[in-house]
Amino acid sequence: MSFFPIRQVTARVTGNDPVGEATFRLILSATDFPPTAAPGQFVMLRTSAGADPMLRRAFSLHDRQEGSLEILYKVVGRGTAWMAQRRTGDAIDLIGPLGQGFAIAPTLRTALLVAGGMGIAPFRFLIRSLRAAGVDMLLFYGARTERDLLELAEMEAAGVSLLLATEDGSRGERGRITELFQQHFRKVEPSEAFKIFACGPHEMLYEVGRIARGQAIACEVSLESHMACGLGTCMGCVIATEDGYQRVCREGPVFSAQRLLLDEISLAQD
Ligand SMILES: Cc1cc2nc3c(=O)[nH]c(=O)nc-3n(C[C@H](O)[C@H](O)[C@H](O)COP(=O)(O)OP(=O)(O)OC[C@H]3O[C@@H](n4cnc5c(N)ncnc54)[C@H](O)[C@@H]3O)c2cc1C
Ligand code: FES
Repeated sequence: MSFFPIRQVTARVTGNDPVGEATFRLILSATDFPPTAAPGQFVMLRTSAGADPMLRRAFSLHDRQEGSLEILYKVVGRGTAWMAQRRTGDAIDLIGPLGQGFAIAPTLRTALLVAGGMGIAPFRFLIRSLRAAGVDMLLFYGARTERDLLELAEMEAAGVSLLLATEDGSRGERGRITELFQQHFRKVEPSEAFKIFACGPHEMLYEVGRIARGQAIACEVSLESHMACGLGTCMGCVIATEDGYQRVCREGPVFSAQRLLLDEISLAQD
């Protein structure tokens, strides 16, 4: 194993099926992808056979098993439209694993997960890792509408308790997931056995981070940012933290909510 386990690999498509509205699960055979990958880390995918689009696109590791990796993605533009057209046997060039993932301390016993929309993407890998560590899990999961709530049966089968919200009320509570989170989240004593993990729109992360910080509870949030290189060199993805500007692709995308300037998170989404 190399000292710095980031590799550029050519992966082969073994599955690329729709799982929701314009949303697909891409399964890749990548036997030479580093086995050190952790939940919360991401890959930079080349989304063309030529030079256009030139920049790679960032995707969380939806799951990582021996010899394969999965990406859960929504088609939003040219790169993801190209991905949706890939068929079994096609080659995809990717670089990873990149960035800092979620930290699972041996003392952890209970995890609250909060996901908004495509923020669910890194949670399958995280849930599998938490389950292996014997951690109890409660997931607050919100989306625009029922069709955007993904992989519910799989998460229940993995022993995760679910609390759902949709903006149109088609499944679970009507409203935003942060409202449901606030209703159910009781004051808990800060403890090394308890932690919040969140991924989703910046506004949601701001809200969850603020609540956690108010109670001095450990909380990690996974941020998104427009990324050019994904490798820490262009400085195009920086975010303000208590420790100065940090690169989402290198020091993140997972950050402790305690270290972020939460007002800056809410501004960064606009
Ligand atoms: C660390 C990280 C992990 C990510 N993980 C996932 C994932 O698991 N699944 C997934 O579906 N998406 C994920 N994304 C977002 C994904 O990178 C973008 O959706 C993708 O780059 C869009 O490429 P495109 O060429 O299809 O769209 P483009 O044509 O480049 O853009 C289409 C629209 O999407 C917006 N957009 C593009 N990139 C981003 C971005 N990085 N953040 C916010 N908005 C963006 C653009 O502003 C534009 O409005 C992640 C982003 C980051 C930074
Ligand atoms: S995307 Fe280039 S430094 Fe983060």
